[in-house]
Amino acid sequence: MSFELKKDVPIKIGELFSYIQTYIPHLSKAASIDLLSYLTGINRSVVLTKLNELVLTNEKIISTVALVKKGYPVSYLRKKHDFFGYELYIDENVLIPRVETETLVENVLKRVDRGKKYKILDLCTGSGCILIALLKELKDSVGYGVDLSYDALKVAWKNIYDLGLNDRAFLINGDVLKIDSFIKDKFDIITMNPPYVSRMGDYCEFIKYEPDIALFVDGDDTFFYKNMLFILDKLCKKGGLIFFEIGANQAERLAELYFEKNIEFIEDYFGHKRVMIWKN
Ligand SMILES: C[S@@+](CC[C@H](N)C(=O)[O-])C[C@H]1O[C@@H](n2cnc3c(N)ncnc32)[C@H](O)[C@@H]1O
Repeated sequence: MSFELKKDVPIKIGELFSYIQTYIPHLSKAASIDLLSYLTGINRSVVLTKLNELVLTNEKIISTVALVKKGYPVSYLRKKHDFFGYELYIDENVLIPRVETETLVENVLKRVDRGKKYKILDLCTGSGCILIALLKELKDSVGYGVDLSYDALKVAWKNIYDLGLNDRAFLINGDVLKIDSFIKDKFDIITMNPPYVSRMGDYCEFIKYEPDIALFVDGDDTFFYKNMLFILDKLCKKGGLIFFEIGANQAERLAELYFEKNIEFIEDYFGHKRVMIWKN
């Protein structure tokens, strides 16, 4: 791409789209369309039919493209993100739901009877994405989401309310490491996507815009899995299932840690073991 974006110059929307795709190579095609839609104010479902229309490159367009180039997530600009076919409200207080988390949801649904009523506990709920997708699919079930971040729970609550789940989804502000002190119930299904990036290791710098509390653990990246090993069997019914999202290089170490439990790993679309299932 040989041109630079200059202020107050009309360019075709198609040229802006090509510019985004060339200048920000880390963006997927879907995210590039989202960005184009955000910058032009044209709905994402029709923006690609308007590639010959002109848009004026103002300061907002230029600075936003530069920000996204540095790794700022398009979902934070749009304040929305599609997860498992549901549109969620997303802001800087929550992790942006990932595709591997959809793999977790998909695998819960493969192992349940959709006609049955389940009691679900979603630990580290963040935006509420896992809990919401499960309750949308399992129409008679009820669920509880727990998170230490009150700001994240406000986002989860908005999503629960907007998607009409407020009579079946409940939120608790608390530390999952002490969960047995404030939840005494037993659940059929427990899900958990805890922070699992070690501050000491290598990680992609683009995650710097997402909340620290959602991503990082001090020291050992298996910190949460180690701690939950001695807590979760008390909260899960006999025969119940516990689903963890795990980091791409953690399966071997977690298999050693959980060697006495009945566990299974599931691969994501890229062949990485990203979900661990513990049958209690
Ligand atoms: C990796 S994010 C997962 C968010 C969401 N479930 C998802 O899959 O996108 C981890 C979440 O754990 C929360 N968290 C971190 N430490 C916690 C703790 N000790 N107790 C409860 N929640 C915690 C963070 O606030 C964050 O929302």
